[in-house]
Amino acid sequence: MDKGSQKFYITTPIYYVNARPHVGHAYTTLVCDAIARRKRMLGFDTYFLTGTDEHGQKIERSAVAAGMTPKQFADEVSGLFRSLFEKMNISNDDFIRTTESRHKAGAQELFRRLQANGHIYKGKYTGQYCVFDELYVDAAGPGAPCPECGRPTETVSEENYYFKLSAFADQLLAHYQQNPGFIRPETRRNEVIAFVKSGLRDLSISRSTFKWGIPVPGDPKHVMYVWLDALINYCSAIGLGSKDEAEQKKFEHYWPADVHMIGKEIIRFHCVYWPAFLMAAGLPLPRSVVAHGWLLFEENKMSKSRGNIVRAETVIDVMGNDALRYFLLREVVFGHDGSFSFDALVQRYNSDLANDLGNLSSRTLTMINRYFNGSVPYPSPTVARKATDDVIKEHALKVIQEFGELFDDFQFSRALETAWSLVGDVNKYLVDEEPWIVAEKEGEENKARLATILYTAAEALRIVTALAHPMLPESTAKIWNQLGLGEISKFNLAELKWAQLPLGGKLGKVEPVFPRADKTSIERMQQMEQERAAQAASTATSSAATAPAQAGQPATQAAHGPTDAAPPAKAAPPVQAAAVADGKISIDDFMKVELRVGMVKVAEKVKGADKLLRLEVDIGTEVRQLVAGIALAYKPEDLIGRKVVIVANLQPRKLRGLESNGMIVAASVGEDGKPVLAGFLEDVPIGAKLK
Ligand code: MSP
Repeated sequence: MDKGSQKFYITTPIYYVNARPHVGHAYTTLVCDAIARRKRMLGFDTYFLTGTDEHGQKIERSAVAAGMTPKQFADEVSGLFRSLFEKMNISNDDFIRTTESRHKAGAQELFRRLQANGHIYKGKYTGQYCVFDELYVDAAGPGAPCPECGRPTETVSEENYYFKLSAFADQLLAHYQQNPGFIRPETRRNEVIAFVKSGLRDLSISRSTFKWGIPVPGDPKHVMYVWLDALINYCSAIGLGSKDEAEQKKFEHYWPADVHMIGKEIIRFHCVYWPAFLMAAGLPLPRSVVAHGWLLFEENKMSKSRGNIVRAETVIDVMGNDALRYFLLREVVFGHDGSFSFDALVQRYNSDLANDLGNLSSRTLTMINRYFNGSVPYPSPTVARKATDDVIKEHALKVIQEFGELFDDFQFSRALETAWSLVGDVNKYLVDEEPWIVAEKEGEENKARLATILYTAAEALRIVTALAHPMLPESTAKIWNQLGLGEISKFNLAELKWAQLPLGGKLGKVEPVFPRADKTSIERMQQMEQERAAQAASTATSSAATAPAQAGQPATQAAHGPTDAAPPAKAAPPVQAAAVADGKISIDDFMKVELRVGMVKVAEKVKGADKLLRLEVDIGTEVRQLVAGIALAYKPEDLIGRKVVIVANLQPRKLRGLESNGMIVAASVGEDGKPVLAGFLEDVPIGAKLK
C-alpha cells in the first residue's frame, strides 16, 4: 500500500481558557505530537490539530472576575497556550479557537443539520448544572454537589433546545460492538457501554441566560451548549461549514479523525454525545477516541483549583524539552494516572538520557573521530567478526519491529523501554569488546575488529535515534547530525533496517547532547515555581490567567480546610486569590464551603496506615466514603452512629488507594494536634447545613 496517500488526522482536546496551561495540558499535546511526528516519518499525510475552548459560562465568569471582556480574556489565555506549544516545539498543523468565524460557521452548520434531520426540539429544563464541568447534572437535587467534581451545582430553569440523545442508545451500542477499537483502552470502553446501557436522557443543547457563546441559527436569544460548540471544533477546523471549495475538500479528505486523544474525565462527551451528534448529522464517526490518565502531583490531579500546578515552561527552561517529553512518555504508563515530581524527572533524565543514550552516543562518536578520523568505519564482513556483533544486529532488528508495534498501540513507555534495552546492550557490548584496548594493538585484523565494533555501535545508535525521534525531536536531531546524516525528520521510518549508515560518511561535530542534571536543577525548578506562584498571587485581580476561581469552585486554599486540604505542590504554594491577601475571606467565599451534618455508618482501620480510618458517612442525600486521619484518637466502633460535621464539597482525593469524598471537621488539640471531632449538644437532623 502506498502510505504516502494515506491520511492521518489527530486531535487534542481544545483547552479551556480559564486557566494557564500546565504540565497536564502539555502531556496531552506532546503525546499527540509524538504520534503525529511518527506518522509523518512513516509517510502518512498527517494533520494534527489543537486549540482552545473559549465559550461558556465558566469562561464568562472568569473574565468578569478578571475585569476583562470574555474576548480579551480568551485572547490572553489562548495566546499563552499557543506560545507554550511553540516553546515546546509542537508540530501542530493548525490551532483552532472557538471564537474564530470559521468555527462559528461549522458549529451553526452542524446545528442546522441536526435540526433538519429532526433531532432537535424545544423544551424546558429545570435542574442542576455544574459550571466547572459545563455539565447538566440531571440526577441531583437543588444544591447537590456535582458527581464529577464535587463542586456545588446551580439550579437552572430555562427554555432550551434539546437533542434527542435517548434515540441513539441502540445505534451507539451497536457501534461500540462493531468497532472494538473505537474507545481505547478497553476499560474505558466498558465504562461507556455501561453508561449508555443505564439509559440516556435527551440533552439540553442551548442556554439562554447568558450570551458568551455561538448563537443558535435562527434564534439568537440562545447560545449553543458549550460542549456541542467545543466538540464541533474537530470538524470546523478542517472546513465544515466553509463556503470555500478548498476548505470543503479538506474536510472531505481528512474527516473522520483517526484519533481523538483526550483525558479520561471527558470520555462521556467524546464517546457518547459526540458520536450521537455526528450520527444525527449524517457524518462519519471518528475512528478512535483514546483516553489517557491524569498527571498527578503528590497523588492529586494537577489542577488550578488545587494549586498544585507545575508549569511546563519551568521544566523546559531548566531541563529542556526532551527531558520533559522523555519523562512523561517513559514514566507514565499510558492510560493510567502517573505521578510528576522534579526528583523523579531528574533521576530518569540522568539515568536514561545523560548516562545511557548520552554515553553511547558520545563514546561511540568520539572513538570514530579518534580512530577513524571522523569517517564511519568499514566493518569487514569476514575478518575478525564475532557472534556478539550479530547479537546486536538481531537485537536491533527485533527492536525496530517491537517498538513500532508498541508505539502504535499507545504503549509509549514499553516502546521506549524496548529501545533502551538495545542502548543498554550496546553499552555493555562496548565494555566487553573494549575498542579502546583493540585500538592500541597493531595489525590489520585488529583494525578490522575495531571498525566492526564501532560500526555496530554507531548503527545501533542510528536505529535508536530514528525510532526515538518522534518522542525526543531535539536531541535525536542533534545525534543524527553528529552521525553525519542530515535532516532526521525527512528520514523514511518505514524503510528503517540494519546497515544503512553510509560507509566512510563524515561525522558532524561531536558534542555532548545531554548534560548531567543535579540537585541544583531541582532547586532551580522549585524556585521558579515558587516565584511564579508568588507573582500570580500578587497579580490575581488584574491578570486574566490568574483570575480567582469562578463561582461554584472553591476560590482559595482556605476553603479546602486545613487538615484534609489537597497538599499543595512543595514547589508551588497554592495560588491565593486576592480576596485572601489580607488573611480575611468574604462571606461569599465562606458560603462556598458546604458544611453538613452526617452520621457515621461504617468505620474501619485502613490497612498499612495506622493514622487513617475509612468511614462511610450518611449526609442525607447520599452515603459518602471518607478517609480521615483520626485513628489514633478514635476507635472505629466508637464512631458508628455518631453525628459529625463534614465538608461536603471538597474535591475527591485518594489516600492509600481509597477515594476520600470530603473531610471530617475536628479541632486540633495540643502539641501533637490530636483531633477532637466537632459535634452538637442538641439533636440535629442528618444532612443539615451549617452556616
Ligand atoms: N475544553 C474541554 C475539552 C473540549 S474538547 C472538545 C476541557 N478542557 S481542559 O482544559 O479542562 O482539559 C483539556 C485536557 O487537558 C484534558 O482532557 C486532559 O487531557 C488535559 N489535562 C488537564 N489536566 C490534566 C492533568 N492533570 N493530567 C493530564 N491531563 C490533563 O476539558
